Amino acid sequence: DPEFLRVSTEKGVGRIELRRPKVLNALNRRMVAELVEMLESFDREDTVGAILLTGGPKAFAAGADIDEMAGATAAEMLTMDPFADWDRIRRVSKPIVAAVNGYALGGGCELAMACDLIFASETARFGQPEIDLGVMPGAGGTQRLTRAVGKARAMEMVLTGKPITAKEAYAAGLINRVVPAEVLEEEAMKMARELASKPPVALRLAKRAVQRAAEIGLEAGLDYEQKLFYFLFSTEDQKEGMQAFMEKRRPEFRGK
Ligand code: CAA
Repeated sequence: DPEFLRVSTEKGVGRIELRRPKVLNALNRRMVAELVEMLESFDREDTVGAILLTGGPKAFAAGADIDEMAGATAAEMLTMDPFADWDRIRRVSKPIVAAVNGYALGGGCELAMACDLIFASETARFGQPEIDLGVMPGAGGTQRLTRAVGKARAMEMVLTGKPITAKEAYAAGLINRVVPAEVLEEEAMKMARELASKPPVALRLAKRAVQRAAEIGLEAGLDYEQKLFYFLFSTEDQKEGMQAFMEKRRPEFRGK
């Protein structure tokens, strides 16, 4: 059983709660390894269509575990390569909805950004404070944040280390929704359930195609998108989805 996660499955949604409350869910290597294992396990599980990732009431996660890194040398960091595990998160093919309460700082912000949709409570704070530790973001913060909010704001956040509010994050296009803390879990779960009801093959490929937009140029991206689109015509869900539309009934998707 995982030491730092609480895990459950309900109505097609795999739910993962980060649980290391004494240190505001600081992400040590064990916790990240557990998280990646669990994400991959949900990715393989047929009854799960989408994943919900959440933290605690005060912190989604306050960053990588500083105590664990403080004494490391560059050679040790390079050979341990803690971020190799993080890279596996982006290969999870089912959509991940992050529900963020409180602090999402450093690695916590980077973890939220590695998810596909972000729901936040009004009290959530997003930031990359690594500069004040004498380092810089290392798990995607300079790249994903810049792609999400643009150079001006990313530069300010990364160089000053100052967090932004949920409202500011929403206005900047970093997150999908800001809701009162009391309904955060419910709203995020509703979204995850909706995603879990979608045709699974099309959902995975659509996620991958949107991810690719941030990775490759327009021409290659359009070409990739077209091929995936054509490929989906080999699935039963495409036949069912279009047939159901024409017959004015609800489709029944089977992931085939
Ligand atoms: N690593 C280790 N421990 C942490 C931690 C972290 N990232 N964040 C918080 N904690 C611990 C604190 O040390 C404290 O422990 P003790 O009770 O044993 O003293 C406990 O969590 C509670 O924290 P605070 O007392 O500091 O709580 P606060 O409400 O006063 O402040 C906070 C909250 C502003 C989030 C503050 O804890 C903070 O600044 N944390 C560090 C944020 C940070 O710098 N994150 C980036 C980490 S580096 C990184 O993430 C690299 C990367 O790119 C992957």
